[in-house]
Amino acid sequence: MKKIQISPSILSADFSQLGNEIKRLEKGGADMIHVDVMDGHFVPNLTIGPPVIKALKKHCSIQFDVHLMISPVHKYIEAYSEAGADIITIHPEATDNIEDSILKIKSLNKKVGVSLNPDSKIDLIIDHLKKIDLVLIMSVNPGFGGQKFMPEVLDKVKQLKDIQSKKNMDFDIEIDGGINFDNCQSAIEAGANILVSGTTVFKSNNGDIKKNIDLLKLK
Ligand code: DX5
Ligand code: ZN
Repeated sequence: MKKIQISPSILSADFSQLGNEIKRLEKGGADMIHVDVMDGHFVPNLTIGPPVIKALKKHCSIQFDVHLMISPVHKYIEAYSEAGADIITIHPEATDNIEDSILKIKSLNKKVGVSLNPDSKIDLIIDHLKKIDLVLIMSVNPGFGGQKFMPEVLDKVKQLKDIQSKKNMDFDIEIDGGINFDNCQSAIEAGANILVSGTTVFKSNNGDIKKNIDLLKLK
């Protein structure tokens, strides 16, 4: 059984204090930092890019779990690797050749993740599962924090877990979007071992990050 890890999304952080927010997350027991990169093209929102990630990395000793919601993504992979991403997760719809993009990330010695939007089927990535380190299952349509969890994606998590066990593969299953204290247990029971959470970690219990991370893990 893989250890349950929490990857708080800084999309819900105070962007005027990002360096301090990153330190608060690390101190509060985050296992990694989920960095949502958005380009206003692949998703209707725009966040941060390589220079900000590079600056933030200096203030943090835990892994940067970088979720690239950008397209075209292939030509930017190297920049995020150099900026300090430890895990680079891409969307199959954002590259002309998913195999090439996966191999590019691996050639840079970074962990490679592939993300499935709520409407995307596992078939889209089934042939690549043995090459990747992580599958990011979106439980909201990407673009914004604070959205409502879509429970129907749990069937996809279960299916993926089933394939992983049957084919004896070892990729992490990360779930992202609307994760809170009421649904985190079902996500874990379905097979997710990494929970992304922005709103719940930063806004619940008067912003007590340590308490919120512990509650998500212990549920
Ligand atoms: C949405 C992002 C998610 C989101 C999670 O496009 O990929 O990581 O920020 O935030 P919450 O936990 O608030 O849904
Ligand atoms: Zn994300």
